[in-house]
Amino acid sequence: MIENVANLEDLVSSMNSQVIKWRRHLHENPELSFQETQTAKFVYDTLESFGNLELSRPTKTSVMARLIGSKKGNVLALRADMDALPIQEETNLPFSSKNSGVMHACGHDGHTAMLLGAAKVLSTIKEHISGEIRFIFQHAEELIPGGAQEMVKAGVTEGVNAVIGLHLSSQTPLGRFGIIYGPAMAAADTFNVLIKGKGGHASRPQEAIDPVAIAVQLINSINQFISRKVNPAQRVVLSVTQIQGSNAHNIIPDTVSFGGSIRTFDPEVRKQIPKWIEQHVKGLTEANECTYELKHDYGYSSVVNEQKITSLVEQTIIEEFGKEQCYHAEPVMGSEDFSAFSNVVPGCFVFLGAGSENPIENFPHHHPRFMIREEALEMGVLYYVKTALNYHFAQEYVSQ
Ligand code: NI
Repeated sequence: MIENVANLEDLVSSMNSQVIKWRRHLHENPELSFQETQTAKFVYDTLESFGNLELSRPTKTSVMARLIGSKKGNVLALRADMDALPIQEETNLPFSSKNSGVMHACGHDGHTAMLLGAAKVLSTIKEHISGEIRFIFQHAEELIPGGAQEMVKAGVTEGVNAVIGLHLSSQTPLGRFGIIYGPAMAAADTFNVLIKGKGGHASRPQEAIDPVAIAVQLINSINQFISRKVNPAQRVVLSVTQIQGSNAHNIIPDTVSFGGSIRTFDPEVRKQIPKWIEQHVKGLTEANECTYELKHDYGYSSVVNEQKITSLVEQTIIEEFGKEQCYHAEPVMGSEDFSAFSNVVPGCFVFLGAGSENPIENFPHHHPRFMIREEALEMGVLYYVKTALNYHFAQEYVSQ
């Protein structure tokens, strides 16, 4: 599809040591969500040095670069996230975090470096591009309400016809691309229930209204209800992850609070769940002559990969890396605010394996010893570059 852009692999390959340097610089200097001041400056300055790009700062700590081609055509956005996590690094890597208590423990340093690499490569072959390639360097993926929705509000998706993203995965063998059609990552919401009973002496329950006993009943009843009410073919998880009551053996507390996480794919089920929780809480507290407070917060909505752009991504990966490097992944119950982009324009979000076979080097995301294999970076750059070019050469997408 892109015969007239010669030696693209060589071009990407020649960038590789630079991409690794960028990644290590970012890894050494991680910043928390909404605080990516130095990261955004580094990204902006690096992009500026490429020439050929129109740069802007849609929000305080994000960066957008537009590569406007020589001919008219559609607009494809490529997105990477840039923020780190509040974790003390324990990898002992020579380029470990210099910021105490902050670590790139999810691979976003790699995402940013790969997108910089793709911007560099594509900006050098600008004359081959029709339409526009838009590079979105997003802040704050790790912290609700997330940076993506702020960027959408700031207008970064205006005029965009499709958006693609990628997440490195330490749990997947190096170089394997996971593709999902349709619902790919879950919506993640949270809830908290406060039961206001009547405290007292542990030996005289008849004089108290015991919120501990009510909480136990409620948690069981909500869990059971969800499993009976929702179609088993639907993927739904409700996990109660916190309970707080008294801290003494002989005191019945006045109140107990509990809360947790709700993961769904279906928007209708997502809307129903807080109503169901409230029905149970209301019914059981009324029956026990006490009151309650209920808090429900919507987090990121689910990432749904659109058929047409996902098919183009899959074809590109197969063409570039071979069929055996591409697998159809199961939808995951984790969440991603890439959904803020893919809710407004057709999107595709894939996973790229960067895991080590050595168990001593293989830790999950958000772990103090999380590591990625840097060989994955070159593949990620190729994924962005090739998909961008295939997109702009694919007849069905090109504006006449
Ligand atoms: Ni992440």
